[in-house]
Amino acid sequence: MSEYILVAVAWPYANGSLHLGHIAGAYLPADIFARYNRLKGNHVLMVSGSDQHGTPITLRAEQESKSPQEIASRYHKEFLQCWKELGISFDLFTTTGTDNHAEVTQDMFLELLQNGYIYKDKMLQAFCPTCQRFLADRYIEGICPYCGFPNARGDQCDGCGKPINPSELKDIRCKICSSTPRFESSEHFFLRLSALQEQLKDWVTKQKHWRNAVLSSTWKYLNEGLKDRAITRDIKWGIKIPLDGFEGKRIYVWFEAVTGYLSASKEWAKLRGNENEWQKYWRNEAKSYYFIGKDNTFFHTLVWPAMLMGYKNLNLPYDVPANEFLTIEGSKLSTSRNWAVWLPDYLQRYDADPLRYFLTSSMPENADSDFSWDKFLRCNNNELVATYGNLIHRALTFTYRNYNGAVPSPGELDEPSKSLLQLTEITLNDVNDALARCSFREALRLNMSLAQESNRYLDAQAPWKTIKNDKEIAARTMYTVICVAAVLRVTMYPFLPFSSEKLHTFLGFPGSIKDVGWRLQFPVVGQKLEQPHALFKKLDDSIVVDETSRIG
Ligand code: MF3
Ligand code: ZN
Repeated sequence: MSEYILVAVAWPYANGSLHLGHIAGAYLPADIFARYNRLKGNHVLMVSGSDQHGTPITLRAEQESKSPQEIASRYHKEFLQCWKELGISFDLFTTTGTDNHAEVTQDMFLELLQNGYIYKDKMLQAFCPTCQRFLADRYIEGICPYCGFPNARGDQCDGCGKPINPSELKDIRCKICSSTPRFESSEHFFLRLSALQEQLKDWVTKQKHWRNAVLSSTWKYLNEGLKDRAITRDIKWGIKIPLDGFEGKRIYVWFEAVTGYLSASKEWAKLRGNENEWQKYWRNEAKSYYFIGKDNTFFHTLVWPAMLMGYKNLNLPYDVPANEFLTIEGSKLSTSRNWAVWLPDYLQRYDADPLRYFLTSSMPENADSDFSWDKFLRCNNNELVATYGNLIHRALTFTYRNYNGAVPSPGELDEPSKSLLQLTEITLNDVNDALARCSFREALRLNMSLAQESNRYLDAQAPWKTIKNDKEIAARTMYTVICVAAVLRVTMYPFLPFSSEKLHTFLGFPGSIKDVGWRLQFPVVGQKLEQPHALFKKLDDSIVVDETSRIG
């Protein structure tokens, strides 16, 4: 029975290039999960887009003397290219700049207003007397009221991660000119989170399958008590408020960005020529998974669910497998200090699969994890090349050379061969279970155990020796490892799509792995192999020094 699975992925701000933190945090796990579910025969809709509103974009535009739209378009284009090269398989990657998104956001706003979950009130807004304008959250800095961090922003503290209202900051200053803003009263709309507190609590209580860290940070907010939050701002770049008298104001970027999951689903359906098809992913038994970094948890486990509750008749998130952070060479990633590895740079010099492999094997699922070029190199050379690549290479080249480029007949299987083939079946099932639970590291580890076990088998059988006296015994060995390779091409596919497709072709299978699905499929005896090539390259030690010197 096939399921409907919505894979909703965080919308990156279109104000700068993607870096490895983004990929490890959200895009890679989402893609692995989407590819796995498609192989299972489930209906998958994987959506996201460029978050092109908000002060991150206008700040950048001001720094470069460009229009916000120019900045957003430049990075949107770059994102699309990155997804292609890294193999992040979105069904739709749109932007928050479409008319469709504005309409869906305004509909969300009006519906919540009508249902009593949005109300109008006055609030104090920071106004800079020097710059003569209202200051959006990110144009304000000050001391965090919770942890004392000196450079907290008006929306969130980078020291303790808490969301903040600008008026709570101490020693507040304008980010542009450093003068002290004054607070002036301004009319705004508020999301009545407080009214949904009990309903949210009941719902969160039932989410036993969520990750511990996601649950505990969500409960922290619930136990502190949810405060109503302003969802409009005194800015000009963003989505208009669909009511008269608010022309100088816009809908807050977070309110509309999360609504993007819904608007993108609707856009996708329209593009498919079936306007209502999005509903299959948002209603009834459909399950939605939201892939995000942990700093976005509050908005996905509380704010967005609250909006959906107020809107009515759409599914709440099924799971929000937020990842922790990726550090770089042992230190916290910082884009302003260039302490990052930029994805376009990486893709210019190296292949996608080795990065996908590394970032999965040390994915920050339950704790922060670290990327270093040294670890990347060793992981590539000692695991991907030496264990997996080597197994495949030995299996394919030896068979191709000694059995006329075709899969030989195994004759009667002996015990070691039977038990290795049994292990392939167990691995297929175990990887399946781990992926269904979003345990990506574990799933990859299971694959690698099978590869390791198969290398041991191959060493013990030593077909390069047995072939001299008995070609049939060697044929049994080679048939067995070719079967292992055929299974690994499927179970590795969500992680390593490019090399898996190559392997599929080398093994003489037609078409794509996508046509095979998630199942045990051994090659038939006599199946013609293709001339094999190495799936992965060993990297030279010298790249560590070169690459590390680019950071910072
Ligand atoms: N652009 C924001 C960020 O990068 C929000 C992403 S998630 C969204 O932190 F769903 F809200 F868009
Ligand atoms: Zn100022």
